[in-house]
Amino acid sequence: MRIIRSVRRLSQLAQRWRRQGQTIGFVPTMGAFHEGHRSLMRQARRDNDRVVVSLFVNPLQFGPHEDYARYPRPFRQDCAIAHAESVDVLWVPTRQGMYPRGHATRVEVLRLGEPLCGRWRPGHFRGVATIVAKLFGIVQPHRAYFGQKDAQQVIVIRRMVKDLHWPVTLRVLPTVRERDGLALSSRNASLTAQQRQQARQLFQALSLSRRLMRAGERRASRVRQQTLAFLRRTPGVRVEYVELVDPRTLRPLRRLQGSVLVAVAAWVGRTRLIDNLVVHV
Ligand code: PAJ
Repeated sequence: MRIIRSVRRLSQLAQRWRRQGQTIGFVPTMGAFHEGHRSLMRQARRDNDRVVVSLFVNPLQFGPHEDYARYPRPFRQDCAIAHAESVDVLWVPTRQGMYPRGHATRVEVLRLGEPLCGRWRPGHFRGVATIVAKLFGIVQPHRAYFGQKDAQQVIVIRRMVKDLHWPVTLRVLPTVRERDGLALSSRNASLTAQQRQQARQLFQALSLSRRLMRAGERRASRVRQQTLAFLRRTPGVRVEYVELVDPRTLRPLRRLQGSVLVAVAAWVGRTRLIDNLVVHV
């Protein structure tokens, strides 16, 4: 496995592979790898001749009071994991490399970045779309891999790729969970043992919504209220939102029918966690 830091070198290598007719699978990440990241790397390995994983904690997608500085950066461990997953290149661009002096471009996907997390993290999806656009421009992958864990991120990026006519295929893989349902996240590492127990309640809340729908409840407001009430009863958990939306448009639903995306965001201590389920009613 090669570790490359330069933008130019990565771009030249990827160009050479493409000229040789090799397919490139790309997994953009911010590091602190866990089984969720590994499942993306493994799928990319199965589908492509070459696999590039980028590791870049993108300052543009963090708000001024968010955890950019605190974000975990276990670099040596990440190298070992990428190596174990037979990644060809771990690309670790520098902040200077990605945002050199004078950088002035932003990519904004209208509407889709505004609800859910967008409301609580203004500018977040502009930061995500901008960095992913830049990474795609440099790697020019045939396929790119994302996790359903970040459902809104997938929807924003799908729209961007479609709107900009980019010849890249997106593959979205299911959320990898702990045995008790907690979605794996790089941020879980900052939970104390007690907070880790409290964090289980996010998935429990989603499961409650799903049970209510399966039992025949079709009023979104009812499911939302009961799920919110459940989370609010959990000590240590501060809910940001519970929403039931159309999984394509992210518009809030009133009547539950067809596919329903139930999404939650909540704080456990100083750690913000998100999770979601798609329920077919
Ligand atoms: P990061 O949080 O490192 O996640 C990288 C990829 O791993 C994303 O596609 C994310 O959805 C996926 N992922 C995270 N947890 C997962 C889980 N439990 N199961 C399955 N997949 C999971 O998402 C980002 O980085 C950044 O926003 C990025 C796209 C790299 C742009 O900076």
